[in-house]
Amino acid sequence: MGRLRTCCLALSASLAGKVAFPLSQEYNASLASYFASQQSEVTPLCIVSPENTEDVSAAIRILTTSTEVCHFTIRSGGHSTVAGASNINAGVTVDLRHLSGVQLSPDQRSVQVGAGAAWGAVCDTAVGFEVVTADGIVVHANRREHPDLRWALCGGGNSFGVVTRVDLQTFALERGSGQFWGGVVYHDISRADDEIAALEDFSNAPETYDVYSSLIASFAMVYTKPEPDPAAFRGLSAIPSLHSTMRVTDLSSILEEAEALQMIGLRQAWATLTIVPTAEALQSTVKVWNASTASVQGVEGITWALVMDPLPPAFYARHSEENALGLGGRQGGALMILLLDATYKQSSDDGKVDRALRALVDSIERAWRTRRARPLSLPQLRGTMAEPGRQLRGREHPKAQKCTEGLRS
Ligand SMILES: Cc1cc2nc3c(=O)[nH]c(=O)nc-3n(C[C@H](O)[C@H](O)[C@H](O)COP(=O)(O)OP(=O)(O)OC[C@H]3O[C@@H](n4cnc5c(N)ncnc54)[C@H](O)[C@@H]3O)c2cc1C
Ligand SMILES: *[C@@H]1O[C@H](CO)[C@@H](O)[C@H](O)[C@H]1NC(C)=O
Ligand SMILES: *[C@@H]1O[C@H](CO)[C@@H](O)[C@H](O)[C@H]1NC(C)=O
Repeated sequence: MGRLRTCCLALSASLAGKVAFPLSQEYNASLASYFASQQSEVTPLCIVSPENTEDVSAAIRILTTSTEVCHFTIRSGGHSTVAGASNINAGVTVDLRHLSGVQLSPDQRSVQVGAGAAWGAVCDTAVGFEVVTADGIVVHANRREHPDLRWALCGGGNSFGVVTRVDLQTFALERGSGQFWGGVVYHDISRADDEIAALEDFSNAPETYDVYSSLIASFAMVYTKPEPDPAAFRGLSAIPSLHSTMRVTDLSSILEEAEALQMIGLRQAWATLTIVPTAEALQSTVKVWNASTASVQGVEGITWALVMDPLPPAFYARHSEENALGLGGRQGGALMILLLDATYKQSSDDGKVDRALRALVDSIERAWRTRRARPLSLPQLRGTMAEPGRQLRGREHPKAQKCTEGLRS
């Protein structure tokens, strides 16, 4: 109760109407808006919803200078599946959903995106950040100002400050048409070997890699030009499909399609791994994953997915020294990010799903070791999607450490 009084009431006094308490409609709506139900069940003492950078700065000053210790967390999209990653029991949640403005720069070369706007993690195109430090000071991190902070925010994880805005570089669309070729293609599981061969080709073709092509196996294919059936996707297009939505369309339509595939408000669990995508490593991964489906049998409403994100060198090498992902100095080999993704209904299955997920990570790693397709010392590339306890490489880096110290005055 003491902490409630000092932290939440001080926030209420200075951010009138922007602090929500348990049982209120605003409080309930904020909790209900998390992606995973594990996060919706976490109950903060109050939720503060800043409407602009000045509000964030005011809230952070109060939270860090209060006479009582105020434990708090920052929430933007609320996509993280770990209970308490972007919500907090017996503390204050700073909900940035109202910072959702999107504004194109006058020269159209960049777009300013509020931290609360829903968008994917695309650190390569993040040219700048607006950040509120632990002192409540607003700083800009870009190539000229605080370049170390910009570097650390690109893949180094969180806790460097509160990001209130990200400036993303824009790219020109072919003939200004705004049209893409993209969609979702379904193959029968019996086509797994063909798909693996096509994925290996797609990932390991540095000479022919086409920068317009983007692929997430088990998710979607996109070509950012209005050209149907480009050469980059020939291998996959040749596999007979059960169903395909591939079409020339616009980005909004692709995003709506992707969103409709998401199951929001259920229990979610993730783990990620990064591998060298030889056909052998991919085959052993699919085999081990297929065998693991038995371990989640009986879990109500279970979706047990293996997602593969090819990462051709042309994709990650361009700005590798400008981010904390740890991909600098690699000898140009292709990588593949694996995402193990579980969606299910009941909290009583949390333990079973968690054990099954960890066992699957172990068996995939064991299979690689025995095949000498060992995943080297690869960085963790989907930080926010890693299972709890996995360390992010970037945070350990001396440059990232220096950057946090530099911000603490
Ligand atoms: C269906 C789905 C598909 C996805 N696909 C991809 C993908 O293909 N590639 C990819 O990289 N990611 C992907 N993601 C992950 C998504 O991009 C991450 O969840 C996102 O980057 C995390 O941002 P968030 O705002 O949702 O984080 P939150 O859950 O709000 O927060 C995550 C962590 O960051 C901290 N944090 C949040 N906001 C701030 C801030 N403004 N300043 C400082 N710290 C903050 C929180 O305290 C917390 O520790 C996917 C997520 C979902 C749900
Ligand atoms: C908020 O949720 C709680 C618990 O689920 C409920 O008791 C309360 O009535 C809700 N408040 C509103 C305004 O709907
Ligand atoms: C998955 O396992 C089942 C048996 O458990 C088997 O029939 C099927 O061929 C396997 N599929 C793949 C793609 O390995």
